Amino acid sequence: MLLFQSMLHELWHAARALLHPHLKTADLQRHISHAAVAVVPIRALAERHRKSVLSHLLELPPEDRYLRFGYAAQDSQIERYAEGLDFVKDKVFGIFDRRLRLIAVAHLAYSQDSHFETCAEFGVSVLSHARSRGLGSKLFARAQVHATNDRISLMFIHALSENTAMLKIARRAGATVEREGSESDAYLRLPAPSMHTRMSEIIDDQIADTDYRLKVQAKQFWEILADVQEVRRLTQDAQSKVSP
Ligand SMILES: CC(C)(COP(=O)(O)OP(=O)(O)OC[C@H]1O[C@@H](n2cnc3c(N)ncnc32)[C@H](O)[C@@H]1OP(=O)(O)O)[C@@H](O)C(=O)NCCC(=O)NCCS
Repeated sequence: MLLFQSMLHELWHAARALLHPHLKTADLQRHISHAAVAVVPIRALAERHRKSVLSHLLELPPEDRYLRFGYAAQDSQIERYAEGLDFVKDKVFGIFDRRLRLIAVAHLAYSQDSHFETCAEFGVSVLSHARSRGLGSKLFARAQVHATNDRISLMFIHALSENTAMLKIARRAGATVEREGSESDAYLRLPAPSMHTRMSEIIDDQIADTDYRLKVQAKQFWEILADVQEVRRLTQDAQSKVSP
């Protein structure tokens, strides 16, 4: 399975790199080998993931809830937020671990105001054990490509000024950051969609779907194996009680 995944990763990067017409073969090879290690399948989430999103957000400790929502969100407020997520109008992205637990979630919320219909706000959270591995940056990049393809012209991030990691991600992507005391707003202007952004999103979606299916199968396999082992253990226990 690992081999299959790494082959997919390589294919994904090869396809991406091939979209750059001026890339030389050596560059292409370097691109493939370097990026194959760095692929993180990011899945577009749907209604059926609502509960998992809620569980993910409820796992955040108070200080992270404060950074994520701008206030010390209580469980009931997080529940309302998760219930109100619109998976059709907005876009929600997630990164799953091997046990299909959501370790990172990003929400690209489209403006409700018709005057700002080409604007979207980005919010993200990564569980503490999975931080500083680039997941926040990758979710941001994924949302950026999606927003571009959806003809969003401005991506907006509201963050506390103390949120070094979030502001670093936004600045690195080219956003302008305006600080107003303890709060900061970051604005990222997006280009028009191109062949590259469209292909990139199609490929990302395919990779994420395949990765997810493999993880579902692997999880089912391990569950069946655990059941078989449990039956074997019970049988052995029963036999040892019968035979002196
Ligand atoms: C902000 C957040 C999403 C970043 O996630 P992440 O997966 O750690 O992000 P990345 O790994 O892509 O890191 C981005 C950069 O910030 C740096 N960084 C990470 N945590 C940091 C911290 N606590 N202080 C300073 N820099 C930090 C990383 O080193 C990285 O910089 P580098 O690439 O130069 O090394 C995560 O910290 C989080 O979930 N915080 C709580 C919720 C939140 O603040 N959401 C954002 C507001 S919407």
